[in-house]
Amino acid sequence: MSDPQPNFEFSEVAERAWTLPAFTYWKRSWFDRERSEIFLSSWRCVGHVSEIPEPGDYLTHTLIDQPLLVVRDRQNEIKAFHNVCKHRAHLLLTEERGNLGKSLITCPYHAWAYDLNGALRAAPNCELVRGFAKNDISLDTVKIETIMGFIFLNLDIEAAPLGPQISAGVDRFRAHFSDLENYRLASSTTFDIKGNWKNVGDNLLECYHCHPAHKAFVDLVDMDTYIVETTGTWSWQGGTTRPQNSAYRIPDGLSDQQREFITFYVWPDMAFVRFPGSDAMAVFVFEAVAPELTHQRFAIYSPDGTLDDIGQSVANYFSEVLGPEDVSLVENVQKGLHSLSYDRGRFMVDADRSYFSEHAVHHFHSLVMQHMRR
Ligand code: FES
Ligand SMILES: [Fe+2]
Repeated sequence: MSDPQPNFEFSEVAERAWTLPAFTYWKRSWFDRERSEIFLSSWRCVGHVSEIPEPGDYLTHTLIDQPLLVVRDRQNEIKAFHNVCKHRAHLLLTEERGNLGKSLITCPYHAWAYDLNGALRAAPNCELVRGFAKNDISLDTVKIETIMGFIFLNLDIEAAPLGPQISAGVDRFRAHFSDLENYRLASSTTFDIKGNWKNVGDNLLECYHCHPAHKAFVDLVDMDTYIVETTGTWSWQGGTTRPQNSAYRIPDGLSDQQREFITFYVWPDMAFVRFPGSDAMAVFVFEAVAPELTHQRFAIYSPDGTLDDIGQSVANYFSEVLGPEDVSLVENVQKGLHSLSYDRGRFMVDADRSYFSEHAVHHFHSLVMQHMRR
């Protein structure tokens, strides 16, 4: 059973609001409630269709404690199931990705075998077990949706489709790329952050910290053009970049659009990022694992799965400069959140919703509260 509902005030008016209390960033009971009220019914981006191009290709994913699998079936349709055997719960596919060839999904423990529709096809010795009806057994389906070629899963089979919720943002993002459905994975890294997933989200969703903490970023981006907008279950940050800057060199002669930096955040835990000056982009997922542990996945995609010089420069800047700067901020906040001297802070929101303003963090906290108060 979930814990009782939150019993603190949270203002929907950003100008007046205070952040979520510190305990929500480390207390196990709060995290467990987030698991049930947020993650078991939200959409999680697990990859791109090009990562499982052939029939029989699969990938596995863990959502907190829920093992999942995504497979392309023989009819080229992508399906998702709980990655757990119905006999005695052994994981079915234990590799991160692979190809089943012509085989069924076969459990390594006692060799129960399921087809790509999830139906149980074989269970050794089952003919001799009285009343055992093989046909009654199948893997539980996970809801799946692809957006711009990216695969999203939802454990709540009744969940409202994601597409309509974020379509305006998707249209806006898609306008920067020729054909995201056919993009391919160029690289992917996942690393641990010793911090709560909301702490990572908070950091992603404001640029109030950019001047003090990201010297090269505020040289790269023309901050006079930087916008932070929120709507529904997504938000948008972006601005034009300068060719000459201390982060990395951008070729002259590119249009404003080609030089644009974009972070398109989608509730609860991911963002699409546009690489300024390049046709590459990235998916950034901050996967909650435990109250104070987040797996950060940063996967880069490009039209042909390789990075040109400029794409590589952006990737290096993100992984060697911007990323480590943010990880340090988040981990130091996580330590501070345990202090007896801290509980909540004031959102620094201004009337103009300038790029300094923390309204997108307030928007994020509002979404957390909407789910936690259900
Ligand atoms: S646990 Fe899978 S066959 Fe026994
Ligand atoms: Fe940052």
